[in-house]
Amino acid sequence: MTMMKKLKMTAAVLALSTTSVVAQEVEVLHWWTSGGEAAALNVLRENLAEGGVGWTDMPVAGGGGSDAMTILRARVSAGDPPTAVQMLGFSIQDWAAEGSLANLNALAEEQNWDEVVPEALQRFSTYEGDWVAAPVNVHSVNWVWANTALMEELGLEQPESWEEFVAAMEAAQDAGYTALAHGGQAWQEATVFDSMVMGVGGPEFYQDSMIDLDPDALGSDMMVEAFERMDTLRGFVDDNFSGRDWNLASSMVINGESLFQIMGDWAKGEFVNAGLTAGDEFQCFRVPGTEGTVMFNSDQFAMFEVSDDSAQEAQLAMASAVMSPDFQVAFNMVKGSVPARTDIPSDDFDACGQLGMAQLAEASANGTLFGSMAHGHANNPSVQNAMYDVITAHFNGEFDAETAAEELVLAVELAQ
Ligand code: BGC
Repeated sequence: MTMMKKLKMTAAVLALSTTSVVAQEVEVLHWWTSGGEAAALNVLRENLAEGGVGWTDMPVAGGGGSDAMTILRARVSAGDPPTAVQMLGFSIQDWAAEGSLANLNALAEEQNWDEVVPEALQRFSTYEGDWVAAPVNVHSVNWVWANTALMEELGLEQPESWEEFVAAMEAAQDAGYTALAHGGQAWQEATVFDSMVMGVGGPEFYQDSMIDLDPDALGSDMMVEAFERMDTLRGFVDDNFSGRDWNLASSMVINGESLFQIMGDWAKGEFVNAGLTAGDEFQCFRVPGTEGTVMFNSDQFAMFEVSDDSAQEAQLAMASAVMSPDFQVAFNMVKGSVPARTDIPSDDFDACGQLGMAQLAEASANGTLFGSMAHGHANNPSVQNAMYDVITAHFNGEFDAETAAEELVLAVELAQ
């Protein structure tokens, strides 16, 4: 970023803190299209509207954001980037490396982001020391969502090991229910796979395979076992799983058709949106085998470089709103995630939110907090997509577990 651009952004921050309402507008590219996500998005949209910032919506459905990223690339290539973009982990770094993102340092300094945003998130929000994105939340993927009434009907306790988890699903299946609500889309299979890798091999194995991409770990017996666990799960999904959206899988647990769903805590947004209470009508617990670890992803808003002054002001108004403590509480209670700041009390959150916040802090202190491969926080998008392909091909019966581990080694090697 040139000195001139930096000065312009600083001037815009000053304008933000001194001027009253001006005609500002943000165009926001995002993939928050389910009921719970839309409710959370509305919290942001209304917050901005109160500050006089208009909203042009640019939704691109598809969890994990791959489709949104494809559209983004097309928009940027056409010389017409949206002003603000929901983005995950390594994608933020890629766009920053291309020099496409605005520098938010002046606002970050004024609001002390350095002090309040956890290190694990700053690693993605900053590029070469400059703030390029504002984190709105922390999600984590290693959750099971369970229907309480069904657990009671089947006489089930919360499973504490992989074996107990499988036994619970067997009980549900035997009783004629769909044991595991699942949507057959590559990103959903990858989301589940994150937990299988961690569950089989623990933190060191997750680090070696998913983050460091060590070929020995990727092709190891433990990886074969992770794929075998995927086979086991495959035996518990219904016949119509293929192509189903994740929120429809959540609905199956919500309406008592299904016992469990393994999904990130955006699923909680669906339960809450349906009027259900955490710890009462539904339960949340860590995927058995992954307790003590948290595999996270953080939605951040990256601001694309724009030349128009009022668009720059709107970007800063949005970044400022996103980072405000009150907003972080209001938004994350609805979204299912937890705040991207360390200075927010958990009192207002429901049982799952409080658990999530405590576990995030613990994992961060214990060195057991890891970026989710499925959601762009373990490796770059090309490696991530290569993994998606193998994981989903295996889940759909193209490879057995042993071949899948071999294919994973090859795919990752080619993608690097
Ligand atoms: C995002 C969540 C979103 C989920 C499903 C994840 O990649 O981080 O915010 O709710 O995808 O769309």
